[in-house]
Amino acid sequence: MPTICLLRGDGIGPEVIDSAKKVLEQLDPSIDFIEGDIGFNAFQTFGLPLPEQTLEKIRKADATLLGAVTTPPNIPGYYSPIVRMRQELDLYINLRPIKSIKHPRSIQGIDFMFFRENTEGLYSGIERVEDNGDRAITERVISRKGSERILRAAFEYARSNGRKCVHVVHKANVLRQSCGLFLSIAREISIDYPDIERKEMIVDTCAMELVRAPQQFEVIVTTNLFGDILSDEASMLVGGLGTAASGNIGKSAAVFEPVHGSAPDIAGKGLANPMATLLATVMLLQHLGKNLQAKRLNRAIDRCIEYNYTTSDLGGVFTTEQTTQAVIQALE
Ligand code: NAI
Ligand code: MG
Repeated sequence: MPTICLLRGDGIGPEVIDSAKKVLEQLDPSIDFIEGDIGFNAFQTFGLPLPEQTLEKIRKADATLLGAVTTPPNIPGYYSPIVRMRQELDLYINLRPIKSIKHPRSIQGIDFMFFRENTEGLYSGIERVEDNGDRAITERVISRKGSERILRAAFEYARSNGRKCVHVVHKANVLRQSCGLFLSIAREISIDYPDIERKEMIVDTCAMELVRAPQQFEVIVTTNLFGDILSDEASMLVGGLGTAASGNIGKSAAVFEPVHGSAPDIAGKGLANPMATLLATVMLLQHLGKNLQAKRLNRAIDRCIEYNYTTSDLGGVFTTEQTTQAVIQALE
């Protein structure tokens, strides 16, 4: 009887989480749900965008599903609850599947997984200004611990999912110290995986290759900022924001979420596409070892996209609720 924590958040967050909850109730009536507050709504109610009780709930649950949060314009005391959550819970893997969908907006034949380091790199949070504000410095932190665990996760994933090759993406020719360390640890770790080929690729080459020949990739592992940018780039090859899902995974907690934001322009109108959140739900089910239910849901989503039972952003005419019901009906 797994416990799933739902964090609705702001904007369209509650609408897409509602959709996922209905689908999960249908798939597995034994699931227990708890709910927590996050984002601008939480800030207005509790004075904090990520209250301590929410962190406790995420730790207690077997997995968490997050809608989206709104970043308000410069309000004192507000911080990014998502960045804070990743650091507080040490969610060191950012997982982003990039897979073709049967839709005219998707290139075909693409199926790979991004492993982005999620806790350090250029998002270390260590910043300062000098020269009376005329010089700004952000420290890029790459550690052995941070690198080892993300690299090992990528190679382990490749091995257990029948993937033959891992691309290690870096810029060690310029960032000699920080990317140099990441790359040398990749070389050490890959010795333990003689069955998996290690290919090294410079980040700008990777940005081009993703556009030129994205079918060549099976697994990509990289540092925080590179992974953030490249995975957003890659998502546009296979349908874009409406179907892009991600996971934030650590040793003691896992949080799955759509890649899109809170879309205030369409909130409350029934226009939100729930597919990205439902695909995040597929990842959540896989994480819980519920592979059969994950497959059932994935097939149902694929079928609805193929028959265009979707919202207007993907060219369909369905509302959020109608799309949800179509997915539920397509569950076999
Ligand atoms: P956004 O992803 O919310 O929206 C970009 C565009 O895509 C908008 O036109 C929106 O209507 C559309 N869109 C997004 N999700 C959709 C869905 N499920 N179905 C149909 N259309 C969808 O990004 P934007 O506008 O830059 O940011 C809005 C707010 O969200 C900001 O406050 C931003 O800080 C926050 N944000 C939060 C994220 C998170 O919670 N992980 C990620 C990105 C942005
Ligand atoms: Mg991003």
